[in-house]
Amino acid sequence: MNFNNKVILITGASTGIGRELAIQLSKKNVKLALVARRENLLQDLTNENVISVKCDVSKKNEVVSAYQQIIEKFGKIDVAILNAGYSVRMKVEEYNSEYAEKIFGANVFGIIYWVEQLIPDMMKRKEGMIVGVSSLADSKGYSKSGFYSASKAAATTYLEGLRSELRKYNVQVLTVRPGFVKTPMTDKNEFYMPLMMSTEKAAQIIINGIEKEKRMIQFPWQLVFATRLIPLIPNRLYELLENQTMKKYE
Ligand SMILES: NC(=O)c1ccc[n+]([C@@H]2O[C@H](COP(=O)([O-])OP(=O)(O)OC[C@H]3O[C@@H](n4cnc5c(N)ncnc54)[C@H](OP(=O)(O)O)[C@@H]3O)[C@@H](O)[C@H]2O)c1
Repeated sequence: MNFNNKVILITGASTGIGRELAIQLSKKNVKLALVARRENLLQDLTNENVISVKCDVSKKNEVVSAYQQIIEKFGKIDVAILNAGYSVRMKVEEYNSEYAEKIFGANVFGIIYWVEQLIPDMMKRKEGMIVGVSSLADSKGYSKSGFYSASKAAATTYLEGLRSELRKYNVQVLTVRPGFVKTPMTDKNEFYMPLMMSTEKAAQIIINGIEKEKRMIQFPWQLVFATRLIPLIPNRLYELLENQTMKKYE
């Protein structure tokens, strides 16, 4: 995949990984459409080749309108990096399904609604790339993060099915599964996050993966390996180990 002259959409471009992707990609010969709810945080990135669009990706009508604004400006989208995401850690004592609505809204429907807009044109042109940002947290239900893990499992599985079906239209679907990256999302976490990576490094890996058209862009390899092993641990033992670890941070 050659980025030259491509129109690239990045959702969740106001902070963290999305913002760093926007910064690094803006140094290439591309046109960028940056999406987030806090449009004010996108302003310093905009210029004649970069537009910012205010949009809550969990709301279908806002996604429809944002897509139309981008098409009016650039005529098409070649690469869609669907990165917007939300996470809250919640104890069962504070159980509130509103968190689930927000998390699934951004992490699952935020991909589904964009795909609905993107694929008719991509299938017609027989080209395009959809890059969905999931997480290594998709491999297991982690305590206090059940909604988040479940949303990322849904995203990964959904993208897998889509990849297979869109192949005949020459539309590629890539899944990104990061480990811990230092962003406002992880700044809230109270527990030890091994092998934490900078946004600069994470964005580099994602951009390289897109250039190489890797179906799965997952990092760091040590955590990828660990997330393959963890589901093999018997549930009883896993619960014991996880509870003991979590107690340390309470
Ligand atoms: N950081 C990590 O360790 C890590 C690990 C694995 C996966 N990920 C995934 O990587 C992606 C980026 O996360 P990050 O760490 O960079 O977090 P972040 O700094 O909190 O950024 C999240 C971005 O998503 C946007 N967003 C959230 N909800 C939205 C909504 N409903 N509509 C539109 N935009 C929304 C936010 O913008 P506004 O608030 O301005 O709308 C922000 O730009 C997420 O999908 C996350 O799950 C992160």
